[in-house]
Amino acid sequence: MEPLIRLENVSFSYKINEQTKVPVLRDIDFSIYPGEYVAIIGHNGSGKSTLSKHLNGILTPDNGDVWIHGYNTKNVNQKRAIRQTVGTVFQHPDNQIVATIVEEDVAFGLENINIPREEMRQRVDEALDVVKMSPFRHRPPHHLSGGQKQRVAIAGVLAMRPECIVFDEATSMLDSFGRKEVLQVMRKMNDKGMTIITVTHHMSEAAEADRIIVIEGGQIVMDGPAREIFKHKHELEQLQLEVPAVSQMAELIHNRFAEFSKDIIQESEFIEEVVKLSKEEVS
Ligand SMILES: Nc1ncnc2c1ncn2[C@@H]1O[C@H](COP(=O)(O)OP(=O)(O)O)[C@@H](O)[C@H]1O
Ligand SMILES: [Mg+2]
Repeated sequence: MEPLIRLENVSFSYKINEQTKVPVLRDIDFSIYPGEYVAIIGHNGSGKSTLSKHLNGILTPDNGDVWIHGYNTKNVNQKRAIRQTVGTVFQHPDNQIVATIVEEDVAFGLENINIPREEMRQRVDEALDVVKMSPFRHRPPHHLSGGQKQRVAIAGVLAMRPECIVFDEATSMLDSFGRKEVLQVMRKMNDKGMTIITVTHHMSEAAEADRIIVIEGGQIVMDGPAREIFKHKHELEQLQLEVPAVSQMAELIHNRFAEFSKDIIQESEFIEEVVKLSKEEVS
């Protein structure tokens, strides 16, 4: 299968002035395939946001290349095609809201690419429906909760019908309820075949993904299935990262009751294990 996004030896520095450069990304190589659900994790300042901005051409590498479906992000003529393939949802919902009415906000990107009225209405309806915000369509966004605003921002991206959405810490300003709402949308869109890339420092969110890429000092230090990555508890600790809370709890229980599996990364698995063992206890 052709990769959707391919990074080849990508390096990048921020230029502060003529003399000063801040090197951030170093020799990054990886591919993302259609339909994947990938989490990118790393501690603060490790380069996650800089990397995210390379995934749809907001930033372009100093060395190396980023290919989106074979388009090079350095090719200015293909910026529009690239932005329509990969959409991004950022951390602060307030910075992403541009209109004074929810449905106008969702339609904003479509107006810019001259989508005909009828199709625009259809796309906005559909996007609001996916994020369960249709009842709020005529409301001003600034009265909404953080989670609701973030879902409006997601609807704006969905309306563009991208093949992939990058979420850069998109749940970090939200309470646990808002976070759950946004996570459900990610899961639902991935189930429909959309490629999801989520940048997060919540390990419970990373555990929802199928694959985890770990970044440290602007370099990829681990890349593999989520379950494999979370087996490296000590290496993760050295990178100031930890395994999900349910994995820690499962290990503690396993140490007392060996029959309780410690190979657990998701809340649902933890609950299943408890149910399974309590049934065995009864019979
Ligand atoms: N606009 C910028 N100008 C200069 N340095 C920056 C800029 N944005 C980020 N950095 C620096 O780049 C490094 C990586 O930042 P970032 O990609 O935001 O990491 P993360 O998202 O993992 O916290 C940090 O040292 C940060 O200070
Ligand atoms: Mg960041």
